[in-house]
Amino acid sequence: MAEAAGTPPDTDGDDCLREYRHLFSPDILAGRVAFITGGGSGIGFRIAEIFMRHGCRTVIASRNLQRVAEASKKLVAATGQQCLPLCLDVRQPQTIVAAVDEALKEFEQINILVNNAAGNFLCPASSLSFNAFKTVIDIDTIGTFNTSKVLFEKYFRDHGGVIVNITATLSYRGQALQVHAGSAKAAIDAMTRHLAVEWGPNQIRVNSLAPGPIMGTEGYRRLGGKFAKEANLLDTIPLQRAGNKTEIAHSALFLASPLSSYVTGTTLVVDGGSWLTSANNFPALLDFWAAGANQTQ
Ligand code: HXC
Ligand code: NAP
Repeated sequence: MAEAAGTPPDTDGDDCLREYRHLFSPDILAGRVAFITGGGSGIGFRIAEIFMRHGCRTVIASRNLQRVAEASKKLVAATGQQCLPLCLDVRQPQTIVAAVDEALKEFEQINILVNNAAGNFLCPASSLSFNAFKTVIDIDTIGTFNTSKVLFEKYFRDHGGVIVNITATLSYRGQALQVHAGSAKAAIDAMTRHLAVEWGPNQIRVNSLAPGPIMGTEGYRRLGGKFAKEANLLDTIPLQRAGNKTEIAHSALFLASPLSSYVTGTTLVVDGGSWLTSANNFPALLDFWAAGANQTQ
């Protein structure tokens, strides 16, 4: 299948793009600072890179300090912008407070929050432990609230800001083996609307961005992306392919920038039309899961 004209290039691993052609104005985020949870890998890493290529300074924060520190070195080398790597667990508010304090000490401002940190795995509801369901809700949903609330209290309430919540389309058709992540992301989309309403008067815009299957990511690997490609399942997507991280980062850039200055309380689906047409084949997914292809532990 021919690659669609206009698809931006990407790389599989957590490396910066070898070359980059600006589509948006290169200074569209000049003078801004973005705080990106889970920014050391996958989609969050690429969002950090694309923001930095548009003049933004970034904070990338996750549980594994070594991972964000290494990512930060690559990002600085590729873009020439500052990137502060910090350790936090979005389930622990005190670690978020410490990280935000550290970021404000370094940059004196934070203008953009990307709630990208998440945890997921394939598992049928019947096999999911109580703690497994709770763990995903804790990281995705409660983690998004915790981080948003800390940023609100520490900076956004008085200075305004932009929040981009990375969600998913899993709940739209009740994706099999995904009751935990689908429920978690649906709750975040609801949170997006609630916070957009309550915080709009503080000049805070809040939106969700829901990616489809995105190549070169942990999510793609865990949810059987390779299997879907080999079984030609990606052909059922209207655009007939998986997306790439740069495409998600470009949409995040739109939502974080003044290009979307009147957009709040909505979800931007970036999935090539996938959720409209892709099969939700419970028996096939169960077989895939039972074969252990998705083991993450
Ligand atoms: C079933 C599992 C499991 C699995 C863990 N658990 N992995 N259950 N299948 N594959 C259960 C454990 O047995 C335990 O329950 C509970 O979940 C908590 O597990 P821990 O390992 O103690 O949790 P923790 O160390 O906090 O790790 C969180 C995690 C882990 C989510 C389990 O995988 C992680 O850190 N993930 C981060 C990276 C990630 O997931 N990236 C992909 C995001 S992609 P018990 O009952 O035994 O105590 C994504 C895509 C969305 O979100 C949409 C795509 C279209
Ligand atoms: P990923 O690389 O595994 O990203 C998840 C990040 O979250 C990791 O950097 C991880 O870093 C961090 N993280 C996990 N738990 C955390 C916690 N408790 N506190 C702080 N950080 C935590 O996976 P990805 O595929 O790029 O996913 C990124 C986002 O896109 C997620 O929100 C995911 O749901 C969404 N998404 C992905 C796809 C896809 O196809 N990949 C599709 C739809 C939606 P540490 O391990 O260092 O903490």
